[in-house]
Amino acid sequence: METTPPRTPRRTASARHACELPWWKRTTVYQVYPRSFADSNADGVGDLRGVISKLDYLHDLGVETLWLSPFFDSPQADFGYDIRDHFGISAEYGSLEDCRALIDEVHARGMKIVFDMVLNHTSNEHPWFLESRRSRDSPKRDYYIWRDGRSPGGRAPPNNWRSMLGRRGWHYDRATGQWYWASFLSFQPDLNYRNPEVKAAMLDVVRHWLGEGVDGLRLDIFNALFKDAAFTDNPRSFRPVPTEDNPDGFFQQALHTLDHADTFEFARELRAVVDAVPGPSRFLVGEVFGAPRTLRRYCGEAADGLHLVFLFKAMRVPFSGPGVRALIEEFERDFPEPLCPTWVFGNHDRPRSMHRLGNHTGKAKLLALLQLTARGVPFIYYGEEIGMPHADIPAEHGLDPVAAHFRFVPNWIARRLRRSGILLNRDESRLPMQWEAGAHAGFSHHSATPWLAAHAGSAELNVAAQTHDPTSMLSCYRQLLALRNRSVALQAGSVTLLDLAHTPSSVVAFRRQHGEGDRAEVVDVYFNFSPRDVRIELVAPHGRALFSTLRGTLEDAGTTLTLRGYEGVVASPR
Ligand code: GLC
Repeated sequence: METTPPRTPRRTASARHACELPWWKRTTVYQVYPRSFADSNADGVGDLRGVISKLDYLHDLGVETLWLSPFFDSPQADFGYDIRDHFGISAEYGSLEDCRALIDEVHARGMKIVFDMVLNHTSNEHPWFLESRRSRDSPKRDYYIWRDGRSPGGRAPPNNWRSMLGRRGWHYDRATGQWYWASFLSFQPDLNYRNPEVKAAMLDVVRHWLGEGVDGLRLDIFNALFKDAAFTDNPRSFRPVPTEDNPDGFFQQALHTLDHADTFEFARELRAVVDAVPGPSRFLVGEVFGAPRTLRRYCGEAADGLHLVFLFKAMRVPFSGPGVRALIEEFERDFPEPLCPTWVFGNHDRPRSMHRLGNHTGKAKLLALLQLTARGVPFIYYGEEIGMPHADIPAEHGLDPVAAHFRFVPNWIARRLRRSGILLNRDESRLPMQWEAGAHAGFSHHSATPWLAAHAGSAELNVAAQTHDPTSMLSCYRQLLALRNRSVALQAGSVTLLDLAHTPSSVVAFRRQHGEGDRAEVVDVYFNFSPRDVRIELVAPHGRALFSTLRGTLEDAGTTLTLRGYEGVVASPR
């Protein structure tokens, strides 16, 4: 009987070039949180040289594109999402030379690199803001959003708008007697995109990094860029907290603060700027929040806006056949070709996916299968490939400014919120990468004090321990990525949900297909979202089972197959 020989996890040239879709639609993205990935100089903080030292690991894993959270010059009040100089590198992460070396080393491995652009706001230590707050007549005053307060005496905020974190987003500046607006935290004042000078300056930042050879940009809270020019009050709402489907919350609609029509328009302007930069094609992925049908507007009516947007809804998908089926249907309805969905299950702001799955490795492998075989661009958060667990760190020990912001929330409520996907202390999902057993999980030199302590379980759960174990989570990711990298159907094919006869709703199956007739490449994927074994009939007779999330390479499956509890199988019909 025929078995599939083990393959090396390299992208094959044939699969990469055999189809006409642009590279960014077929790519796989891995998010590195530089502070926590690898520390090369034993100061306890991850750095760019550390990332460079792990590029071979990432290449062998089989991911193509790296997205790095910000490492630009910053007071680090929000660990880099508060930029002081968009052209400089924060000393704790390295130098400009290290940054250029990173870009070159990534490219030398045939990989791509995406930087994190925080267009919405700067640090309050940015020279523009220091100048802007100096006086009402400052030439940079209008770089930010300043307003008079309401009576009496201007000591009431200009309107009722709340920040994305639920508190008042207006901050009073005693020296000039006006209020400035911050969509996130008070030390992150929003730039005023209605000022053409601001827009031009920030577009120069974009051009600068693309000119340095960066292949794409992740756009931080892009949906907050433009607000209502008349500063109209937001209408009231009954919603206490925002959800994946609706950014309204804190008892008001975000009508005038988020998803402004001018931001959709700006997405197109930005796209045109990016497209005009000489060299290979680049991509933009927007961090935006809401229902997929709203978020698609960022991609433009004629697919002439942002290339991709995060669809965070996947993070909350019920772990069930009907839940996953409905999500695929929704993504396909709202992001049909030429649009392209994204698959993201975790990031530096959200609980780790393992937390949601109750640390169940079998379930996590099934989710990885979904992420790497469904139509769209997968975004893997560092550590997901080894099933890195979430941490439990009480807010009072949090270094995260969001934890400080919510310090009044009792820990039992914070834990309950975490279960529903809301993270008040984001340190919990930012622990050092677990490379090996031993001091600091191999993240940093044993003599160093890491900025966050490694997870207590890292002695058992780490890259080294999983590397040669064929049943490990890491092996599962490697094999899935290898499979995807050599399959044009998985990278670029259409997707069709399949109806299997006599099969419970806990089973989901879809077909990926590229090309037609004799030249078509077809891959069928089966998921069992229940803990029970289920016997299924394969859609294509004599299907050759290629890969199982629980059993590795499978032998010829014939026409029926018993899926074990939480097992997923990729089969390619003969
Ligand atoms: C985004 C980032 C988050 C940051 C915030 C403010 O949501 O992902 O980490 O704190 O924006 O920039």
